[in-house]
Amino acid sequence: MKGAFQATRISEHVWWVGAIDWGIRDFHGYSTHRGSTYNAYLIVGDRVTLIDTVKRPFLEEMMARIASVVEPEKIDTIVSNHAEMDHSGSLPDTLARIQPERVFASTMGVKALRDHFHLDRGITALKDGETLDLGGLDLTVLETRMLHWPDSMMTYLGADELLFSQDGFGMHLATSTRFADEIREEILYEEAAKYYANILLPYSPLIRKLLDRVRDLGVPFSVIAPDHGPIWRKDLEKLPQWYALWAEQAPAEKAVIVFDTMWQSTALMARAVHEGLAEGGVESRLMPLGASHRSDVATEILDAGALLVGSPTINNQMFPTVADVLCYLKGLKPQNLVGQAFGSFGWSGEAVGLVKAELDAMKIEPVGEPIKVKYVPDEDALRACRALGSQTAAALKEKSHGL
Ligand code: FEO
Repeated sequence: MKGAFQATRISEHVWWVGAIDWGIRDFHGYSTHRGSTYNAYLIVGDRVTLIDTVKRPFLEEMMARIASVVEPEKIDTIVSNHAEMDHSGSLPDTLARIQPERVFASTMGVKALRDHFHLDRGITALKDGETLDLGGLDLTVLETRMLHWPDSMMTYLGADELLFSQDGFGMHLATSTRFADEIREEILYEEAAKYYANILLPYSPLIRKLLDRVRDLGVPFSVIAPDHGPIWRKDLEKLPQWYALWAEQAPAEKAVIVFDTMWQSTALMARAVHEGLAEGGVESRLMPLGASHRSDVATEILDAGALLVGSPTINNQMFPTVADVLCYLKGLKPQNLVGQAFGSFGWSGEAVGLVKAELDAMKIEPVGEPIKVKYVPDEDALRACRALGSQTAAALKEKSHGL
């Protein structure tokens, strides 16, 4: 009788033996509202090789899927493409159980795995471009340092024209099918964009170089097998095209207005800014932080050209939710944005200046002047907010036409 967990064959020599995490909703601060998968892969040639493992709570699911193809003890080689614990968390237990002859990682991966798990066995470092013999099948290393960790690497199985792309080209998406061509394209686009915005955006210059490098390799690709989400066996040009677009971070005619509010004054200002943007013919997203997750804000900014941030002052500070989102966005290093700060205050009114300082630190080009309103905005104040929206629209149109 078949076991509960089966592997899925994805090419002549490769099986998916990962795990589906339907319940995860927070992935180190990123809202994963459709869950995720941790993809591990089994290559079966004259040798049996495991590419990556899964998050620690899913060890048994991975082992059961492996066992549906071969006895796990037959694995004699493990390749760790990435040391982050959603892919390496089950490595120590897997090593203890199956005692593989060989374990490989990138040079930085060897160090990262040692510092994570303090293993008492050796791991062999693989160099960029090196080819590993998996018993009649060649696996070639494409080091992708800082995409998105120092240890990150991809591996290419020539016999199946298959790229194990690790976090690259991945997305947090739990599904009952394993293949992208069985999932609606708008879901794929939305989740791939969210993944790029929240994980890969700071490394966009490296992505551009990687895309060039992969193209210059001149090798055929029939399958892209990432460490999260679906596997691509059709329309392989789609993901690189999306990545090329996102990596460019070209200024677009879209604005994001992020704000929080205490007594609806800053909310009223935000809505007036939005009216001005609409009048100027620019799409804008109004994102109240009481109802918008920081990682969804980051996703909206991926194809935006303006960021306008509103905050009331509380205890001489900006609102905590605004501080949270600014801290998060600053780390993601969005480029080519214009923007401004606005907000209501009662007596001291530091928040707008503090927000403006953060926007300056993010190199966001200011549009007009910051707007501060005491207590409740009157008609003049709301007109000024609407004018800020119109000015922002004009600035975006000028930038996009200047491209
Ligand atoms: Fe999916 Fe960087 O780990």
